[in-house]
Amino acid sequence: MIMDKKILLCVTGGIAVYKAAALTSKLVQAGAQVKVILSESAEKFVTPLTFQALSRNEVFTDTFDEKNPHVIAHIDLADWADLILVAPATANTIAKLANGIADNMITTTMLAATAPVWIAPAMNVHMYDHPAVKKNLSILAEYGYQFIEPSEGYLACGYVGKGRLEEPEKIVELIRSFFAKDERKQLIGKTVVVTAGPTREKIDPVRFISNHSTGKMGFAIAEEAKRQGAHVVLVSGPVQIPAPAGVELIKVESGEEMYNTVIKFYESADVVIKTAAVADYRPKITYDQKVKKQTGDAVIDLERTKDILFELGQRKKNQVLVGFAAETENLEEYARIKLTKKNADLIVANNVKTAGAGFGTDTNIVTLFKRSGAVIELPVMSKKDVAKKIIEEVTSLLKDMGKNANS
Ligand code: PMT
Repeated sequence: MIMDKKILLCVTGGIAVYKAAALTSKLVQAGAQVKVILSESAEKFVTPLTFQALSRNEVFTDTFDEKNPHVIAHIDLADWADLILVAPATANTIAKLANGIADNMITTTMLAATAPVWIAPAMNVHMYDHPAVKKNLSILAEYGYQFIEPSEGYLACGYVGKGRLEEPEKIVELIRSFFAKDERKQLIGKTVVVTAGPTREKIDPVRFISNHSTGKMGFAIAEEAKRQGAHVVLVSGPVQIPAPAGVELIKVESGEEMYNTVIKFYESADVVIKTAAVADYRPKITYDQKVKKQTGDAVIDLERTKDILFELGQRKKNQVLVGFAAETENLEEYARIKLTKKNADLIVANNVKTAGAGFGTDTNIVTLFKRSGAVIELPVMSKKDVAKKIIEEVTSLLKDMGKNANS
């Protein structure tokens, strides 16, 4: 599974760099292509030549040492990698990454990276326990980074406790199973329609009714469905974030446009996931010219928009239908009502008043309500990890319907 995978190993300055050298050797023996960046502190422990000899690739140490005039090294390395591993990751580098600092070759490359990132911390037991380190690690979790937890044992500083870089053999195993999982893509041959973002309901050419949705949750779902091999149609209201690579993006503005687009793709869809925050009401009249202000109050008459999820539930044949519920109270009660009323297979409920959940954040706190009656309450997670859970559920619902990947 590791054969020819491109692994970018970022080595920062701790005594565990000797394990990073062993890791490089093991990865190369397993058939991976390994490129290494050393931080200035790592170079105090070991020279680039060690990693060059083990990886059979040139080693990068300095952002401004542009070895190839045709590319910008840190962008090129970031684009090249299938997986980026920071091992050992010192408290200092973890802090820089958590704060978006880009002051050396590793941190600059990391900011440019879109590949999955794994962080393998290694440090003194008390450093690892320090609230600042914990906070920085939780920020990185919000960014979607994964962690190889340090193991417990004798530390070079003389303490015994948690802080040792995981053994190279174990790290290779984790990488192996990561790529193995990646190769068992669950949604090959499936079409997944995801809606995301807000809708805008026009009052006149300069004003509209909308909401706080940024599209982050829906885009993360689209990205994960794509990663699992699906053909993804992403129907999005106006947002400021880039669409995941490889998805078919259809930009819409109003709820009516979203309705028409989703209905168009519904017949051919295997799965529809309705993450968008669709306006429930729109102005009864849309003015062609800017409405001039008058003395006194103004009243806008509103009418109901079409409930897209409800309509999909009515027309459902063999699609898996996933709805969201954005609530501020009585989460469970309202989510269950939506599950039944909209004939959905799964409702993803979030309390949008809770810190770390709902609109605009990089994390979410959701509870999944299934038709079977099962309820899965998830802790605070990055929206990318929430997306993974939702896609896992969708995959198992497809399997229940006898619609396995490729079938
Ligand atoms: O985009 P982010 O900033 O990341 O924020 C994510 C989110 C808060 C928007 C997301 O997690 C979320 O909760 N999405 C659903 C928002 C919503 O409109 O919820 P609702 O409870 O009002 O609607 C229930 C379901 O019906 C939703 O699946 C919605 O897409 C759908 N609906 C609602 C109204 C309508 N006219 N048509 C619909 O299809």
